[in-house]
Amino acid sequence: MLEVSHVTTRYGAITALHDASLVVREGELVAIVGPNGAGKTTLLNTVAGLLRPATGSILFDGYDITDAEPARLVRKGLALVPEHRRLFKDLTVEENLRLAGCTATGHDRRQRLEEAAELFPVLRAKWTTSAGYLSGGEAQQLAVARALMSNPRLLLLDEPTLGLAPTMVDIVFDLLTRLRDQGRTMLVVEQNATRVLRLADRAYLFRSGRVVTSGTGAQLAADTELFDTFIGTDGIGSATKGTAP
Ligand SMILES: Nc1ncnc2c1ncn2[C@@H]1O[C@H](COP(=O)(O)OP(=O)(O)OP(=O)(O)O)[C@@H](O)[C@H]1O
Ligand SMILES: [Mg+2]
Repeated sequence: MLEVSHVTTRYGAITALHDASLVVREGELVAIVGPNGAGKTTLLNTVAGLLRPATGSILFDGYDITDAEPARLVRKGLALVPEHRRLFKDLTVEENLRLAGCTATGHDRRQRLEEAAELFPVLRAKWTTSAGYLSGGEAQQLAVARALMSNPRLLLLDEPTLGLAPTMVDIVFDLLTRLRDQGRTMLVVEQNATRVLRLADRAYLFRSGRVVTSGTGAQLAADTELFDTFIGTDGIGSATKGTAP
């Protein structure tokens, strides 16, 4: 479904992604793990069309999307749950969802709103609350629900558990499990390496903008030397991360 080939992305003189290649097949949950500054967000933002790669190519469903605009990619079936969620804080839960459903017909939009209310009871209870008043866990669920409003074929998630309390982390992992079991294809960047590798069909370890290794989730988790060197035992970079609103 997604084929990233030899992609290099730069911010001016800084090369954040070097010659990165990866694939995501239909129905897979693929995890990206790696320390702070490894280029994980740069990778997702490049795939989502928010950054333009200097070299390399990106295929989505066989189409070349290397230089595609983000809005076109949403219509093609690609949705991003961005790092730090980036909700419209002054809009209500419902308004955030309605806006995200702008690519759907009226009938589909209504149906997806109902599905969101079913999948996220927490959001149903706060339907008319401004997003700025949600807790971190609620806001994260809204960010995922918003991405689902375009009924994406590929869902990109950037650090969905960042800054969340442990019980909320459990809720987000339950949600990822449910979406995977429904057959949703996902590319997930996650600092909770141990847990995401347990869930992932396959995973890539990034460091300094490069793919260090890849394999099944179980293979990466079982490589203790690699794990201790690059990831650590209690997740990646969690100590240096700020909390998201
Ligand atoms: N807007 C920017 N301008 C300049 N350099 C940037 C910018 N965004 C990221 N970088 C640099 O690019 C590199 C990769 O950053 P990126 O945010 O992709 O890493 P990451 O793996 O997502 O890290 P984290 O775990 O902290 O979220 C880092 O060295 C970072 O400082
Ligand atoms: Mg990041």
